[in-house]
Amino acid sequence: MKRKEFLRLASIGTGIATLSPALLACSPEGKNSIILPEDAFSRPLAFPEEIRATDFELVAETARRTLAGDTASDVYTLNGSLPSPTIRVKRGETLAIDYQNRINQESIIHWHGLIVPPDMDGHPKDAVQPGQTYNYRFDINQRAGTYWYHPHPDKLTGPQVYHGLGGFFIIEDEQEQSFNLPSGDYELPLIVQDKRINDRGQMTYSLNRMDRMMGFFGNSLLVNGMQAPYHEVSNRFYRLRLLNGSNARILDFSFSDNSSFYVIGSDGGLLDQPHEIPSVTLAPAERADLLVDFSSYNVGEKIRMTAEPRNGMGGMMDGMMNGDGGGMMDGRGMMRGSENRRGMREMMGRNRRNSPNDEAFLEFRITKEEEDSFRLPQALTELSFPNEADADRTRRIDLTMEMMQGPAIDGKFFEMLRVDQKVQQGALEVWEFNNRTMMPMPHPMHLHATQFKVLDRSGGSLAPHERGWKDTVRVDAGETVRVLTKFDAEKGLYVFHCHNLEHEDNGMMANFELV
Ligand code: C2O
Ligand code: CU
Ligand code: CU
Repeated sequence: MKRKEFLRLASIGTGIATLSPALLACSPEGKNSIILPEDAFSRPLAFPEEIRATDFELVAETARRTLAGDTASDVYTLNGSLPSPTIRVKRGETLAIDYQNRINQESIIHWHGLIVPPDMDGHPKDAVQPGQTYNYRFDINQRAGTYWYHPHPDKLTGPQVYHGLGGFFIIEDEQEQSFNLPSGDYELPLIVQDKRINDRGQMTYSLNRMDRMMGFFGNSLLVNGMQAPYHEVSNRFYRLRLLNGSNARILDFSFSDNSSFYVIGSDGGLLDQPHEIPSVTLAPAERADLLVDFSSYNVGEKIRMTAEPRNGMGGMMDGMMNGDGGGMMDGRGMMRGSENRRGMREMMGRNRRNSPNDEAFLEFRITKEEEDSFRLPQALTELSFPNEADADRTRRIDLTMEMMQGPAIDGKFFEMLRVDQKVQQGALEVWEFNNRTMMPMPHPMHLHATQFKVLDRSGGSLAPHERGWKDTVRVDAGETVRVLTKFDAEKGLYVFHCHNLEHEDNGMMANFELV
């Protein structure tokens, strides 16, 4: 696609007038490349500490940690851990968690994907000041799965997650255990996040107008807080619990040799059956539960996991820079030729990667022969979705672009106590998200207090992981995505929002009240 065509296409998008094309063209996220450090794949992957208790404290503090190079960055730790500890609980347990806020701004923790009472959900109105503690008491009564937790204060969620607060919240139950999925050393929770690392190796976060509009994009991919580590594995099945914990970046995950793997779970637990796939796209806050079979590799072989940036504007700019043969520069200042000619459709969807290791963030080294007793099950769980025909109503939610102010919900920005949607407790509803913002801007939409079934997306078919229980769904530019959900949580005030954290902080969030 030629540059002129891009500008013409862009101007069709609603609200594009709020952005000048010149500003877009020179924005940092236009340089869509991820930089690998020179000493890539020389440090072993670390995992945050795991908490297996029902009564514990989480203490958020400011700290300085070295993430890249040898310069320290300002971060937030939780119980001294970066990223935050992995919490592992069993269905049926009752939790008592005290969140001590010892950072320099107000904060509150939200349990993403968990269905808990309104005052336990981390609504921004419940944020506590520095030095204060919030006491959580709630029961775990939902499907086993890969959930997570992170701060949720109004206008400050982006910086707090970016600086390190947020971790896995894993629920186990007997049904899932009956599958004997790889566990212990064979189960790897991986939180992948893009960060902006400057020349001195320091992590930076400061928003210009463009970042506030598009989201904050990094130039480096960290996994479990580390840049390009390696991990030694045996030639057997592993379970990868993958979380895109980025502020705004959508990522396409695959392997450097294009080998396939199995997706067995989504945001809200196991799927009905394993699906063999070559890649999985996760928007911020989405999870995928994967099984990877390393048995076809020999000891001594290496395979890298890659995450290709696939964001509306970022991906589009990338396509424009690399794909038109027009001799524009890519992020590293190298000229790229017409060997990468890509069509509009491809740019909006999956891009072919230029060199397989560009976006590698983790290297698996096969170092051990091992007998594997695990057999891939044919079937997993009964999803037991409700029936669309039984829905009480359809609620239409428009994602809109407000002149000079950015994306909003139904033309409005978040207000702490304004009730935007009133929902009958127990109602079964279709929520229809219409993305009416400018053309290349996707929004991962997230509802608190529920798990839903994605019914359809107007722009294409659902990916295998989108056919399980979900709490966050990507709504691409121009798309309408419909979800079906039953509101069984306790009565009270909850939020729904875009999980691009800069969008959320900028007010792309609304309240719904269960009455
Ligand atoms: Cu993961 Cu309201 O958020
Ligand atoms: Cu949530
Ligand atoms: Cu958004």
